[in-house]
Amino acid sequence: MLAVFFLHFRPPPRPFMSQALNIHTAPLGVVNAALTVFYVAEGAQPSGYGQTLWSATGLDWSQSIAASGFTGKQGQTMDVLLPGGKRQLILGSGSSSANTSLTSWTDRGGSLMAKLAATRATDIAVVVDEPSATPAALAELAAGLRLRRYKFDKYKTARADDAVGSITVTLLVTDPEAVDRAIAGRAATVEGTLLARDLINEPANALGTLEFVERTRELEKLGVSVEVLEQDELEKLGMGAMLCVAKGSARPPRLVIMQWHGGRDGDQPLAFVGKGVVFDTGGISIKPAGNMEDMKGDMGGAAAVTGLIHTLASRKAPVNAIGVIGLVENMPSATAVRPGDIVKAMSGTTIEVINTDAEGRLVLADALWYTQDRFKPRFMINLATLTGAIIVALGHEHAGLFSNNDELAIQLLNAGLNANEKLWRMPLSPAYDKLIESKFADIRNSVGRPAGSITAAQFLQRFVNEIPWAHLDIAGTAFGASNRETNTSWAPGFGVALLDRLVRDYYEG
Ligand code: BES
Ligand code: MN
Ligand code: ZN
Repeated sequence: MLAVFFLHFRPPPRPFMSQALNIHTAPLGVVNAALTVFYVAEGAQPSGYGQTLWSATGLDWSQSIAASGFTGKQGQTMDVLLPGGKRQLILGSGSSSANTSLTSWTDRGGSLMAKLAATRATDIAVVVDEPSATPAALAELAAGLRLRRYKFDKYKTARADDAVGSITVTLLVTDPEAVDRAIAGRAATVEGTLLARDLINEPANALGTLEFVERTRELEKLGVSVEVLEQDELEKLGMGAMLCVAKGSARPPRLVIMQWHGGRDGDQPLAFVGKGVVFDTGGISIKPAGNMEDMKGDMGGAAAVTGLIHTLASRKAPVNAIGVIGLVENMPSATAVRPGDIVKAMSGTTIEVINTDAEGRLVLADALWYTQDRFKPRFMINLATLTGAIIVALGHEHAGLFSNNDELAIQLLNAGLNANEKLWRMPLSPAYDKLIESKFADIRNSVGRPAGSITAAQFLQRFVNEIPWAHLDIAGTAFGASNRETNTSWAPGFGVALLDRLVRDYYEG
């Protein structure tokens, strides 16, 4: 009864973006926008429809570039104010050889958005008329616009100069219908990425375990089945590893299983597992205060999995996919797990908790075991903000990739390059595996400083039961990463585009 009551009074879904951006397409031709944008390559003159637009100004090209210093280098702009209040913004597209990869087009969209926002125009026509501007490239440009437009500013009270409101960008292209189709096909990935950003940026007082569960329930509208295991069910399953992390918190643990059935009945599913620590204080082995606020993002793996399932369902991907996320909060309290405590995981393995701050691997131990045991997936990929050590090793540019399967690892490395969410492979080996043995139990959850990310991965490997598996340590890439063309928010939503690419390129059809 109570459940039914809540079903009817679920809060309405929130928009993904605080400031709307409408993207349309139109054939190359006359437009009435106040601002018209077109590109000129390095050292070149306006060409294609850009040339038509430039001719209409009556200005002399060589004089204008001499006066402005515009050379067409990437990132350059020439701002032309015309009689009648119209404005042309000419952007350098760099050397034509630099614009061949799809990710260069996503970046181009991102930097375009930054330029457009700076003009404060609200009605904008963008001309992209060059040979490499295929529908797929233009869809990337549109994706870049939307990704860059994202701001997590819902907690800022409005200021007068923020009132830009919604902007409309019309892309003038040779084949608007084909571009519309490509943009629609790419939109699902963007939305999944923005959902992941929203979840990660949200502070932990607003997004506890139960609030996260509510957000996953919104995926039901897309045809995803969402199953939620509560404390008593987790106890019955014997998930002593995951449960011990939640013991210190007033917030109850939850294991959420999201299923997207887009493939054939009986097709082995692809499984994605996420660490969902809604806040990580470190527990009794408490963290120092400096930057502890970042630990609201310790559910970045779970956010990426949720964003991915959202993406797969909204584009009706022809695969069966499972998303499993372990939601807990790691707090110190009179009921918290202690260093030295020994717990038993669902697999039967006993674990000595040396450090309560090495909690992510405890959550994943049970989530991974459960996933392979119940679903017998084709592969299992987990994402986790698992170790500070991976930031020491790789910084914010690559996530760490650990895998027991070379084929899966190579697919992931490729998908990372194609999605511009890069991975770097790290080793697993029996020599490191020895390090996690415990004096009192089968294994321990924390070792010394050497090889901190690898020993964490070795710990996880004990719970994958030898199925093809990859672990992505996203501690350096899920949040706090350096700003890029396609993101200025704290959380870039890392992992959604990468795994969507993996599925598209290797597991559909
Ligand atoms: N959530 C942290 C890892 C982390 C640190 C993510 C910084 C993002 C930024 C994880 O739970 C943790 O505390 N790991 C410990 C493990 C250690 C106690 C073995 C770490 O990395 O220090
Ligand atoms: Mn921790
Ligand atoms: Zn953590």
